Amino acid sequence: MLVLGIESSCDETGVALVGFEGQQAPRLLAQGLHTQIDMHKAYGGVVPELASRDHIRRVVPLVRQVMDDACCALQDVDVVAYTAGPGLAGALLVGAGMAQALAVALGKPVLPVHHLEGHLLSPFLSADPPSYPFVALLVSGGHTQLMRVDGVGRYELLGESIDDAAGEAFDKCAKLIGLDYPGGAALSRLAQQGRPDAYAFPRPLLHSGDLDFSFAGLKTSVATQVRKLGDALSDAQRADVAASTQAAIVEVLVRKSMSALRQTGLQRLVVAGGVGANAALRDQLNAACARLRARVHYPELHLCTDNGAMIALAAAMRLQAGHADAAPAGAFEVRPRWPLVAQV
Ligand code: KG4
Ligand code: ZN
Repeated sequence: MLVLGIESSCDETGVALVGFEGQQAPRLLAQGLHTQIDMHKAYGGVVPELASRDHIRRVVPLVRQVMDDACCALQDVDVVAYTAGPGLAGALLVGAGMAQALAVALGKPVLPVHHLEGHLLSPFLSADPPSYPFVALLVSGGHTQLMRVDGVGRYELLGESIDDAAGEAFDKCAKLIGLDYPGGAALSRLAQQGRPDAYAFPRPLLHSGDLDFSFAGLKTSVATQVRKLGDALSDAQRADVAASTQAAIVEVLVRKSMSALRQTGLQRLVVAGGVGANAALRDQLNAACARLRARVHYPELHLCTDNGAMIALAAAMRLQAGHADAAPAGAFEVRPRWPLVAQV
């Protein structure tokens, strides 16, 4: 069975081909990715109209490239999957339109996929895939959630951010110290030269007793500190702010993840989403999980941020699990706002 996956929810056009037989683990056969980061940099964030137009330019060549790399013909594809939401409406419509057009032309069914389910299941493509049940820490640019996962489509929300997501906090704080959008990875590189205890930024909701997060106050606190330091920050000051910001975000994510493991009694943690690429987060989660004698699984680094592979994989895993919502091409919709847990 061959599943073609198309991702276009935000600022990355991703296409991938995944293959599986029966209940065997799906394999990634080929993938292509185009990131729009350079294009949006000048504006300090994603410009939705530019994003949609660029997806239109990239998606057809990427589909061709992926089919060539996999040495397969489009006619061999059994199901066309695409990200139906959440994300930018115009950007989502490009992937949806491409998937529907392909499905009509090939006479094959389409399968709409939830973007966060793609992230959530992406560690199943790693060399060390998890087994169920597990706690998932989903940390993307737009979402921070802890979930109990008992199988494909069996997700229970344990807690989530009540305001900014962790990725958003990384990006906004990075901007405050003059780093380009999206600043998460750049902030974490700069943090390597700074002191994580230079500034005592708040650890919001650390002792709230629940598994919710809040990062908006942290951003305000970083903004206040940057203002206090004056107009021209030295390199050392910027590195200290970066390291202290990262320390605050990572400590909250790690402590809440450990609380989730304790509360559920589970022994496995799965980390997914762009912030899952953060080295400090990985180091501290590894150490904390070792203390709890729990295992922790990550996606391959290149599959942490948005990509088509996770969409093709999620579709393949849904098909294998019997959630066969592949439908004939035709009526298509995108869902810019779409809670993952409510879909079950
Ligand atoms: O999952 P993702 O690609 O997009 C969404 O679905 O939102 O996540 C993107 C987010 C951005 O906020 C980006 O700054 C952050 O992931 N990110 C990182 C790192 N790499 C990406 N944050 C911290 N450290 C990193 N190394
Ligand atoms: Zn994403």
